[in-house]
Amino acid sequence: MRTRERQEDVCMESFSIDENTVRYEKRIAAESAVRLVESGMDVGLGTGSTAELVIKRLGYLVKHEGLEIRAVATSKRSERLAHQLGIEIKTLDELPELDICIDGADQVDSKLNLIKGGGGAHTREKIVASSSNRFIVCVDERKIVPTLRRAVPIEVLSFAKAPVSARIRDLGGTPVLRMQEGTQFVTDNGNIIIDADFGAIKNPEELAVLLSQIPGVVEHGIFMRPTEVHVGERKGVRILS
Ligand code: A5P
Repeated sequence: MRTRERQEDVCMESFSIDENTVRYEKRIAAESAVRLVESGMDVGLGTGSTAELVIKRLGYLVKHEGLEIRAVATSKRSERLAHQLGIEIKTLDELPELDICIDGADQVDSKLNLIKGGGGAHTREKIVASSSNRFIVCVDERKIVPTLRRAVPIEVLSFAKAPVSARIRDLGGTPVLRMQEGTQFVTDNGNIIIDADFGAIKNPEELAVLLSQIPGVVEHGIFMRPTEVHVGERKGVRILS
């Protein structure tokens, strides 16, 4: 019987040589984060391409290595994938406190503030992360920046689209309604997303508070200080905490 560490080595060797660098970096970051998961843990599952690599790796360990976990997913998409892979899915009502949550991110600054929500799942992601004892983020190295500057995804009640957009402009941002295949993007919660470009975000903490105070905003994609960030690089994984 091979050890778990050994099995991970085998899995690492299975990367095809022409697999592109970004995907490789996401994958080794995901694998590194998954090493923190132990049998008996309750795990929050993120959303996005990196989180899917996490879920696939967990599914592999459940099927082939006897890993026993229960999980809460942050989106219908992640829930479907996890279920297909044999991971036991629960609700937050059933598991209100999780041992660990592993997710991706769109940008990470030097103080480990994050922008999330590129996939429109940041509301559930923030709830699940805040319900977890450890919040582990895994990213490829292109996500690491000195200062956050991506547009901030903001989940908004459809009814409040105009006033929220006006308040974003008052704060110096440029609001853009997220579209998908010609129609408004709709989240798993039935709301719209406004991507708000503020340029370089020098004080994410302050902006986070201001955005949270706008009536009609369900949740914004600024996250503060995860437990660890696992950064996939060509040479290996760097862990920031
Ligand atoms: C999903 O809503 C997001 O928060 C994702 O975690 C983020 O967009 C990162 O996605 P990728 O792993 O696909 O880059």
